[in-house]
Amino acid sequence: MIDDSTQTLSHVYPIGSRVDRRGHLLIGGCDTIELAAEFGTPAFIVAEDDLRARARAYIDGFSALYDDCDVLFASKAFPCTAVYRVLAQEGLSCDVASGGELALALRGGFDPARVYLHGNAKSLAELRLALQSGVGHIVLDSLHDVERLEVVAGELGVTQDVLIRVTPDVSGETHAAISTGQANSKFGFGLADAPEAIARIARSERLKLEGLHCHIGSQLLTLEPFARAVAALAQLGDFDVYNFGGGLGVAYQAEQEPPSIADYVASLVRAAKQELGAGKRLLIEPGRSLVANSTVTLYTVETVKRNVSTWVAVDGGMSDNLRPMLYGSRYEVAVASRMLAGDGAGELCQLAGKHCEAGDVIARDVLIDDPQPGDIIVTPATGAYGYAMANNYNGVARAPVIFCKDGDARVVVRRETYEDLMRRDVE
Ligand code: LLP
Repeated sequence: MIDDSTQTLSHVYPIGSRVDRRGHLLIGGCDTIELAAEFGTPAFIVAEDDLRARARAYIDGFSALYDDCDVLFASKAFPCTAVYRVLAQEGLSCDVASGGELALALRGGFDPARVYLHGNAKSLAELRLALQSGVGHIVLDSLHDVERLEVVAGELGVTQDVLIRVTPDVSGETHAAISTGQANSKFGFGLADAPEAIARIARSERLKLEGLHCHIGSQLLTLEPFARAVAALAQLGDFDVYNFGGGLGVAYQAEQEPPSIADYVASLVRAAKQELGAGKRLLIEPGRSLVANSTVTLYTVETVKRNVSTWVAVDGGMSDNLRPMLYGSRYEVAVASRMLAGDGAGELCQLAGKHCEAGDVIARDVLIDDPQPGDIIVTPATGAYGYAMANNYNGVARAPVIFCKDGDARVVVRRETYEDLMRRDVE
């Protein structure tokens, strides 16, 4: 048998990605140059096996160390029905942050009993939908949230299991916009306020407090803050259930080495055993670290302009990836048909999007090998919060999602059309 793959790629790319002898990038066994020709660009290309492998790493890693545990998919990271479906099949539970994510999770096949509804500003309509759907747990975020849920549970004549979200005054090193554990936060009850909320729910005839939740922030590359958050929750009493949120960081660039999923769950289990004692039910809700590295984005170069810099402009940008603009996030860039160009080869370029503002730069100061119009550009690690935050700025139609597995590609979300852009018009 002829092995057509000559080279594997860094851990930033989906598991199983290869470069063939011609220098083409293969994702899930599919040639990305052929994918671009068949499905167009920009496109989100997902290696289905990578999604499944990370889901298994979470479930197997956690359950090997702790009996009563569960892994929730923080679905805000990639709220696409096909992704919900894969992760439901893999046996995860689901975190939803709105009525819309709840609708998607149910459509993707999650058992409502295994859904957790979050949100610092849930509407009455969202609470009603959750209770009518039989959502297992609501994570309460404020006293108004408690009051409203009581009203809705009363209306429907049900008793609802709840957790309360605590802000443990612990923050890790990350961008301020995605740091949520500090005391001055819009999320949750502070350590000083949580006892009142706990007492309030204890008196409720409609709400059953099962335990505590916290989420200290996202894209955290060290484990120590997670353990400090567990210790902070332990100050608030003894509960049956503890949900430690998500937040494990991922590698966007080859030189980044985030903690492994196994090390992350081991450090949480260690902290929980030490701080909370035995016999608890432990939950985590990873988003980014489940989905980010499963996916790459393909673009086509439209123009190359040389002035002070070399501007390589592609057919997407801030409509498919807002992260560089919002958080200064850095992405790797390569030409998907010339992956064998040596490290350090290429011209220093600014990879620009097609949108009408100067900040629409996907990657600054990156080396691109001989950029030409028509080249297919790949940016890896776009599975988390790319599709999720996609938008129609400048009337750009949103990109499709293509699942690749064993050399077969299938469209799971089609590209938007111009008709789609007008679909909601009433006049
Ligand atoms: N649980 C809760 C309550 C959360 O708020 C979040 C993320 C997660 C879990 C999942 O966190 P992860 O494992 O993905 O770090 N748009 C930003 C990220 C916002 C994260 C919001 N909450 C970005 O693109 O970096």
